[in-house]
Amino acid sequence: MLSYLLLVSVLVTVINADPVTFLKCKGDDDKCAKESTKAAIPIYTAGIPEFGVETLDPVFFKNIDSSSPTLKLLLDNVTVKGLRNCIAKKAQRDAKNSKLFLRIQCDATLDGHYVMSGRLLVLPIEGNGKVHVDLKKAVIDVNMDISDKQGKDGKNHWTVKSWSHTYDLKDRSTVRFENLFNGNRVLGQAAEGVIAQSGNEIIREVGSPVIKTVVARVVDTIHHFFEAVPTEDLTLD
Ligand SMILES: *[C@@H]1O[C@H](CO)[C@@H](O)[C@H](O)[C@H]1NC(C)=O
Repeated sequence: MLSYLLLVSVLVTVINADPVTFLKCKGDDDKCAKESTKAAIPIYTAGIPEFGVETLDPVFFKNIDSSSPTLKLLLDNVTVKGLRNCIAKKAQRDAKNSKLFLRIQCDATLDGHYVMSGRLLVLPIEGNGKVHVDLKKAVIDVNMDISDKQGKDGKNHWTVKSWSHTYDLKDRSTVRFENLFNGNRVLGQAAEGVIAQSGNEIIREVGSPVIKTVVARVVDTIHHFFEAVPTEDLTLD
């Protein structure tokens, strides 16, 4: 995803043996980096098996523990869709300090199974069933520390040494839990009403582990991508 880089050009190179270099960027050319990342996202999220990049849309997680200090919340069989439509808002490479920065804005859906008990937004709550999340305009910043490493091909490769992220919700997202209180309508209705109005608050309270898990998967693919593609194919520096 971070191919300001030139994922597209790499792909075209592989297919055509005729490099399209206009998407390769100089380290300090943020505009180029952003355009290149923008162009790369749909291709990258579709998966590039030959570069070890698995499909990211949809992307599946067997289990995610999203518990908070007041709520036990376990998610199973989680499918996230829509990452192909993420928009690159900013992409920067700080060559001197070996850092990559990416800001993307995503609309995505999450579907899975949940089990929860405890307190959610001060509401006593429990349930076990399907969960559906509609994430709207989630803006995610990812900072990566990169180091250089000689690859099996003898060429220089980037490697993701460490990373961190933050996120912000720029629109109203929604969260729906089915079968709250095991279907007890009386108990369920009041909670459903509050939950229906409080998507962003719920995501901020218990959604962060889910977002982190998704970002971790994306960074993992970037790591594999860098392992497969030498630096010289990714930048004009
Ligand atoms: C998750 O999916 C697996 C495989 O389809 C299934 O066996 C399991 O029961 C599912 N787990 C839940 C909690 O739905």
